[in-house]
Amino acid sequence: MLKFKGSLKISGDKSVSHRALILSAMAIGKTKITNLLESDDVMRTLKILKELGIKIIKEKDCWIVYGNGTDGFMEPNKYLNCGNSGTTARLMLGAVSSNPITCNFIGDSSLSKRSMSRVTDHLENMGAVIHLSKNDYLPVFISGSDKLLPMNHNIQKASAQIKSALILAALNIHGKTKIIENISTRDHTERLLRFLDVDFKIKKLKNNSKQIELNGPYEIKSRNIVVAGDPSSASFFIVGALILPKSKIVLKNVMLNPSRIEFLKVLRKMGGKIKVKKTNKVCGEDIGNITAEYSKLKGINIPSSKSAYLIDEYPILSIAASQAIGMTAMKGLNELRHKESDRIKSIVNNFKKLEIKFHLKNDDLFIFGKKLKIKNEVLIKTYNDHRIAMAFSILNILCGKKLKIDNKKCISISYPDFEKHLKHLM
Ligand code: S3P
Repeated sequence: MLKFKGSLKISGDKSVSHRALILSAMAIGKTKITNLLESDDVMRTLKILKELGIKIIKEKDCWIVYGNGTDGFMEPNKYLNCGNSGTTARLMLGAVSSNPITCNFIGDSSLSKRSMSRVTDHLENMGAVIHLSKNDYLPVFISGSDKLLPMNHNIQKASAQIKSALILAALNIHGKTKIIENISTRDHTERLLRFLDVDFKIKKLKNNSKQIELNGPYEIKSRNIVVAGDPSSASFFIVGALILPKSKIVLKNVMLNPSRIEFLKVLRKMGGKIKVKKTNKVCGEDIGNITAEYSKLKGINIPSSKSAYLIDEYPILSIAASQAIGMTAMKGLNELRHKESDRIKSIVNNFKKLEIKFHLKNDDLFIFGKKLKIKNEVLIKTYNDHRIAMAFSILNILCGKKLKIDNKKCISISYPDFEKHLKHLM
């Protein structure tokens, strides 16, 4: 039986990489970005910023961004192609909205089925002129303005992308913008802004909601940025180590942002032997080493209140649940339906093929652990979703490589070095 062993430095974080590029483009002066994740999604953001007149070059292992200020985007003469990247589309719509330019955003067939009105409704309220396809989707035409209204926004959906789009817009809005998020989401934009010395307020309100108050327009001074390792990328190898007998690995340079490592708590509760050692802080984010070793997992209840902090890890957590003793309940998964694929469907359709028992009740998924005995090859459908491809690639090792993953190429969307790193650990 194959096992995981040794240590590995995890690639740069996807969410922070997008934000490092966008915020250094909106700063004034030169920013050197180290450890940027060079994945398909992040490269979409980089290319779009170049179309908006930002000079970006690569020098050895670093990317250099020459920022033009919060009002410095120039009107592009091409369509802005976001490819598969929801983060690119939503964050860049926010960023350009408070600049007096006209842009056309497009994306691939998967992205063109994902809601954009969740962001553009707010931007329209402030005065941006927007045309959506079929009232919700890309292609999106946006005519921004440097006279957008400072307003109060109440975000009902748990989405860091919506919050970040509004923060980016507010950086060039004259006056006070207040953003209330009812459910806390990942906070990389806020942390990076603090690191860049941007003056804004965060207030905890009743019922766990949070208010962010910005008073623009801002002049942001550039500052070099180091991108920490991606905990979501690490999660695949951590679960691999937990389910493959005799495994023990150390993953280095992993970002320990509390809004991103809830999955470690979940896996520990399932019985996972995981140790975390903080080693440093980079650009407002703690980083450290994570040790994980083979463990006998048991099923647990994962309440819906945790779903915003686990959103990208459910595919690999469902693999852990499939190898645990007893039932794991994952509740409140509605937002999973709006990802690169409908991830609930993608998981359960493949579980059916593997005869893994589950029960789906609306957006609650119950998984019953089972020892897998695969005799003949099983075709796994990724639905061109990188996280589905990586999650089942991990299960494939446990299955003696009897699974055939239909499209591994999509993994480059978030983790181009995944296969190389997987081999390194075996
Ligand atoms: C992201 C936020 C999450 C996550 C996505 C990246 C971000 O999306 O699923 O991979 O960088 O802000 P939502 O906040 O829309 O759920």
